[in-house]
Amino acid sequence: VPYLPKDREDELRRIARALIAPGKGILAADESNASMHKRLDMIKMENNEENRRKFREMLLCCGKEMSEHIGGCILFHETLYQKANDGVPFVKHLQQNGVVPGIKVDMGVVPLAGSDAETTTQGLDNLAERCAQYKKDGAHFTKWRCTLKIQQFTPTYQAMIENANVLARYASISQQNRLVPIIEPEILPDGNHDIETTKEIAEKVLQFVMHSLAIHNVFLEGLLLKVAMVTPGFKCPKRNTADEIASFTLSALQRRIPPAIPGIVFLSGGMAEDEATANLNAMNKLPNRPWALSFSFARALQTSATLIWHGKEENQKAAREEMLKIAKANGLATLGKFQG
Ligand code: 13P
Repeated sequence: VPYLPKDREDELRRIARALIAPGKGILAADESNASMHKRLDMIKMENNEENRRKFREMLLCCGKEMSEHIGGCILFHETLYQKANDGVPFVKHLQQNGVVPGIKVDMGVVPLAGSDAETTTQGLDNLAERCAQYKKDGAHFTKWRCTLKIQQFTPTYQAMIENANVLARYASISQQNRLVPIIEPEILPDGNHDIETTKEIAEKVLQFVMHSLAIHNVFLEGLLLKVAMVTPGFKCPKRNTADEIASFTLSALQRRIPPAIPGIVFLSGGMAEDEATANLNAMNKLPNRPWALSFSFARALQTSATLIWHGKEENQKAAREEMLKIAKANGLATLGKFQG
């Protein structure tokens, strides 16, 4: 039994390519309502539905210029059904501006019993129905995030095999519903481990993920992978340069990711905006990159804009200009052409 008919494969290929076209990446604006608390707290705004709508209005309604460096935007369920001040749904704004709308479909992390604070991610129940509805409502891609922790004895076999399998099941269901999955096995940056340790673990985690994708027949040409850059843990005293981070990251990916996958997009994981851009740019200057290496940043695209905006209508224009400026820097970094 074929996994997907040819025309469905082609549709997924086309969507994936649009998201990571040269010079473009993804704006992650899919914070759950709980995570939005942190964003709004930065500017002392109450976390309610209307304030979240205003925040998304600032980020998402940037006009046609947005599509110069943003190929797609990941939304949270609530935002997919919200409207801008002009009464037009955010999804329409994105479509009209040439940005592909996507949707976070996981339902968050839950503990793995008996493990050392490790987690899996829930949300497979009714996922097919939700995906079918999201496709009708204008989404063309999805995201699902799993998290893995580096501690003395983790990530364990239990966590790696469970998270790889749930990501593959999610990817399969998403593709069956004509949505390109963004598969995110995030290795969290907390800890005092060095960059060598992160690389070793990244290679292991990716090996489990690729194995599960193969078992579930997932169509590699019609998905994107979202990973953290290979960096030392936040508390590691030895810090690395952008060139070192680039070469460790690229080597881990080269060893584990088949060239059939069209693109790998990085999360920013709490890095400073300029740091994230410099690392991405350094990677795109190195040889042997069979996939597009691009961005799917939340914080590294939003932070300065949020601080400029501060919830005030009169600052909206300046905030949007800042977001577009940073998107442009990252767009150039996907080509290895950013000059700091
Ligand atoms: P950050 O870029 O802020 O890490 O968020 C990206 C994301 O979507 C994590 O799932």
